[in-house]
Amino acid sequence: MNPIDDAPLTWQKNPHANPHAVSAAVHRLLPDGITDAARAFHAQIPGYEMTPLKRLPQLAARLGLGSIWVKDESKRMHLNAFKALGGSFAIYRFICQRAGRPNLSFAELMSADVRAALGDITFTSATDGNHGKGLAWAAQTLGFPCVIYVHKNTSQARIDAIAAYGAAVRVVDGNYDEAVRQCERDARANGWQVVSDTSWPGYEDIPMWVMQGYTSLLGETQEQFAAQGILKPTHIFLQAGVGAFAAAMIAYYKKLFGADAPLSVVVEPRAAACLYESMRVGDGQPHAVGGDLDTIMAGLACGEPSPLAWQVLWDCADFVVTAPDYVAAKGMRMYGVPLRGDPFVISGESGAVTLGALAFIMQYEGAAALREQLRLDENARVLLINTEGNTDPDYFRNVVWDGVWPVPEAYRRPL
Ligand SMILES: Cc1ncc(COP(=O)(O)O)c(C=O)c1O
Repeated sequence: MNPIDDAPLTWQKNPHANPHAVSAAVHRLLPDGITDAARAFHAQIPGYEMTPLKRLPQLAARLGLGSIWVKDESKRMHLNAFKALGGSFAIYRFICQRAGRPNLSFAELMSADVRAALGDITFTSATDGNHGKGLAWAAQTLGFPCVIYVHKNTSQARIDAIAAYGAAVRVVDGNYDEAVRQCERDARANGWQVVSDTSWPGYEDIPMWVMQGYTSLLGETQEQFAAQGILKPTHIFLQAGVGAFAAAMIAYYKKLFGADAPLSVVVEPRAAACLYESMRVGDGQPHAVGGDLDTIMAGLACGEPSPLAWQVLWDCADFVVTAPDYVAAKGMRMYGVPLRGDPFVISGESGAVTLGALAFIMQYEGAAALREQLRLDENARVLLINTEGNTDPDYFRNVVWDGVWPVPEAYRRPL
């Protein structure tokens, strides 16, 4: 294996980020009042609760950090991932717009007169798992039919989890990006409404609403920090597929704190590192990577950045890191078997990669320069987001019980 393929980390500093300017892309994505509107909508959904913000003090001390916090999205509405925040808010905004009534309450949205005004709507999207499940749940909760497209490598467990929320699931013989295109073609032919978490030229409103919806989790986090007298984290680690989640989180903090926003580290699978590639090329444009995008981090197996997300990331993300699959597997085991006194967290492949990357940044000699540039030391308050629980339970046990994807010997901690 090429040594670079095997190394625990590669990284790019964003050559363009200007910490002192809050970019126009941030203001476009998050106009005044929108994050409050998203939270107000989510709070009305039956069964809504804030997800926990957990602290890992023992691990922070072991890694030489001030504190580590984990926003645990495995607890989001029993859906095992944060994704439903985006799909539900996008459907909500779509309906408000179509009904010509901004700021409908949840009860109004479900009322007979609004339904009659809307007519029949079928929602659809491609997914690498979690968005499809979140959208299927949102459509079912709001009473609309839903068709979800998955790529050929999607596990049966993920397909079943989507179908359990009443959606029709179609398997596309290609990768995630091909599933996106098939979904778009079929939607045009059938008059369905695409609710995608990624954008493309001419299709930006809905992905923007999806991203706005994601910010509710940071609204909760800031409230939970405030209750403990903490103003904000110093660093935030964000896993990325098309980059919409990372861009939404970064934009939220930029809008709130401007030049004092937390330093951001975006983490991608080595096998699907389109944002890293885009930073490396450095011409300000998003660049795709092709191939099978073969990674255990199913939620992050995307080869084409979302252009809408890219605008924010190019202006504001500080670093992009790539990690091979064993880094995600290590993160899953670290969460699942915590140091004495720390809470345990169930985290899937895409959820855990940021913890694995943080551990390697702190402990791998090859990352000393990155550690320094990031000022990751005993004053750092690091926020991680566990974006998913064990969304593929059998694979989760393969990793955590059977130890598949072990850390290669060269990169293990000395005994
Ligand atoms: C668990 C999980 N984490 C993170 C992401 C990344 O989101 P994005 O594709 O917006 O970068 C996804 C996307 O599906 C996901 O499922």
